[in-house]
Amino acid sequence: MDGNGRWAKARGLPRTMGHRRGVEAVRETVRAAGDFGIEYLTLFAFSSENWRRPREEVDELLRLLKIFIRRDLADLHKEGVRVRVIGARDNLSPDILGLLEEAESLTRNNQRTTLVIAFNYGARDEVARAVRRIAAKISSGEVAIDAVDAECLDAHLDTAGIPDPDLIIRTSGELRLSNFLLWQAAYSEFVFLPCLWPDFDRDALAQALAEYASRSRRYGGIAREAAS
Ligand code: IPE
Ligand code: MG
Repeated sequence: MDGNGRWAKARGLPRTMGHRRGVEAVRETVRAAGDFGIEYLTLFAFSSENWRRPREEVDELLRLLKIFIRRDLADLHKEGVRVRVIGARDNLSPDILGLLEEAESLTRNNQRTTLVIAFNYGARDEVARAVRRIAAKISSGEVAIDAVDAECLDAHLDTAGIPDPDLIIRTSGELRLSNFLLWQAAYSEFVFLPCLWPDFDRDALAQALAEYASRSRRYGGIAREAAS
């Protein structure tokens, strides 16, 4: 979700106003994803590198996350949304940690859509934490060194049990992954949109899905028609 700052700047508003409008786009996108039958939607809400932003902006982003969970959790639950949070949990303030855990535990049995919130998330950090978990199990004898393969790593990532993303959408015209789901994106399709995140809506999502539907995914093989 990129472009909140530029959206605000273009209107002569403070960056925080862009983040506030960005929350509206989140609401619309989560609803549209459910309507479109998307089973897993992951939103990159706050990266492990976003702490480098000015204090006031970080505070506003954290405030908006808290407001979103407090205000929207009951509705998300009613709509059958299961919330999962990925990212590092240590060093988070108790109020944020409590809200994230409440969102996960309240919605754990919902089945319509899974909303994965990437918060305090960085892919390299996630892989390093997975390696530490595996290393601990090796040293306790629970896991054999030879058993460490791609599947084992998958199972120790924050995304354990969540399928790899079929489609990754980045808004605001930037053409990079910025430490998002590096391991899981091995065969993802990418759609880059010029639209700034606060302008992202149901139509933009539909457009990205149409683009995705036109792609031929081969996973290193060859197209089915070429094989016959
Ligand atoms: C939203 O957009 C990103 C976050 C939620 C942290 P930006 O704040 O990165 O907006 P730009 O890139 O400055 O336009
Ligand atoms: Mg940005």
